[in-house]
Amino acid sequence: MAKTSKKLQAAGTPAYTVPGLTPSQGAEIAALLQDRLNALTDLHLTLKHVHWNVVGPHFIAVHEMLDPQVDAVREMADTTAERIATLGASPSGTPGALVADRSWDDYSIGRAGAIEHLGALDLVYQGVISDHRSAIEATDDLDLVTQDMLIAQSSELEQFHWFVRAHLETQGGTLTTANATSEVDATRKAGRKSA
Ligand SMILES: [Fe+2]
Repeated sequence: MAKTSKKLQAAGTPAYTVPGLTPSQGAEIAALLQDRLNALTDLHLTLKHVHWNVVGPHFIAVHEMLDPQVDAVREMADTTAERIATLGASPSGTPGALVADRSWDDYSIGRAGAIEHLGALDLVYQGVISDHRSAIEATDDLDLVTQDMLIAQSSELEQFHWFVRAHLETQGGTLTTANATSEVDATRKAGRKSA
């Protein structure tokens, strides 16, 4: 089931929404999108954090790979926030509100090798993409315009996830981070296999 923002749910029903939807439907979709906005804002900040903290032999490749992802995810966050406003609700974009509203932990890796960070990012992307899929399913009967936006974002996010995973894939086609239970665990698994 798709997650909805507790904060935006509590904000109640907007005075108006897009034509063809009821204000309560608009509120429901906006609450769903606020959680996606939180995830996308969290993701572009996390990608910059990795861009700054990556070290080791693959530094420049990973450092430079991440900036286009930061820009694209930031653009997705903007589109999502503006969709919330279009639906008649108020998008929440402050850091404190994001931390209070999100259901996941902060990215847990500081300065580390490129492959180690990519191992942790594999888990980060898994979380964001799975939740985007849930939101796509939840909008199926509610709002196909919102669903179309989420599908377009997912396509790009899945490609970025592949860029990350391609560094973690063995010649046999398996992922070094398979069955990792946490970002720290994924970091260890990715680092061990590349050593
Ligand atoms: Fe930079």
